[in-house]
Amino acid sequence: MSFPVTRLRRLRRNPILRNMISESQVRIDDLIMPLFVCPGKKVENPIKSMPGNSQLSVDLLVEECKKIADTGVKSVLLFGIPEHKDEHGLVACEENGIVQKGIRAIKKALNDKLLIVADICNCEYTTHGHCGTIVNGDVDNDLTIETLAKQSLSLTQAGADVIAPSDMMDGRVKRIRQILDDNGFYNTPIMSYAAKYASGFYGPFREAAESAPKFGDRKSYQMNPANSDEAMREIALDIEEGADIVMVKPALSYLDIIRRTKDTFNIPIAAYNVSGEFSMVKAAAANGWIDEERIMMEIALSIKRAGADIIITYFAKDIAKVLSR
Ligand code: PBG
Repeated sequence: MSFPVTRLRRLRRNPILRNMISESQVRIDDLIMPLFVCPGKKVENPIKSMPGNSQLSVDLLVEECKKIADTGVKSVLLFGIPEHKDEHGLVACEENGIVQKGIRAIKKALNDKLLIVADICNCEYTTHGHCGTIVNGDVDNDLTIETLAKQSLSLTQAGADVIAPSDMMDGRVKRIRQILDDNGFYNTPIMSYAAKYASGFYGPFREAAESAPKFGDRKSYQMNPANSDEAMREIALDIEEGADIVMVKPALSYLDIIRRTKDTFNIPIAAYNVSGEFSMVKAAAANGWIDEERIMMEIALSIKRAGADIIITYFAKDIAKVLSR
């Protein structure tokens, strides 16, 4: 039956009705806050392109985690800025590596109040800034998955609750699952960056993590933004290899990929609202061109509506504050 009998505006007439029939919602439980840990004491290096975010030394990282937990956010994703880098990114596997120290300190201060997700990748740890070991000018897949496996084990031993490989090497989920299981960590979930695109939206992050490639780009391992069918293959393979949660990254230019993943697979989905997406909102808001809070909430909602369960976002604390008023 159509107009005049059907009037969709009837259910938009007041907030109680509108909320009652709201199809999607953002919950504090959905949020993960990314953080950058660096060497030193009392070090706070603001990341210019990402207002409100800083590289933090372990002591200040712990303070920040307490504030995050106070907002109700229950999870953080850690990235490390190491003291030294090497050709293969092996510094990331040291027992006293920067992220390992950060994890132990957070666990000591907050126990299991915060779920710690450890990003697994070599780009912050290699001298050349690529995500793995270089052979003949390109990242060698099978050598790289060995360092990623070592890094995963080391961070799990340090206390990481979830392992999140972001490198886009083939077969790494299987290799990481194997090394974790072999060492008794069969209960540690893998959140795989399954469909990660070679995106311009990572620009500000590379300043934050000091991880820009010194030559070339990441197009031989990260996905072509033109492809959607291929994303389904990537995700299917990662599930087959043992991923517990799959991620689509970036989020906003890839909402179609999130939706297609939701319609195709039955597995929890994370979406990474990446640095460039965050910085664009901040820049426009600083100019008075948009209402930052409103846009922040609308973006988070759009990611949920697309089908994501988990949102990794630099807005996590701010979203939590809005949700708890
Ligand atoms: C590491 C990694 C990157 C991001 C997360 N993990 C950068 C990249 O692939 O170059 C990007 C996160 C962001 O932009 O917020 N490989």
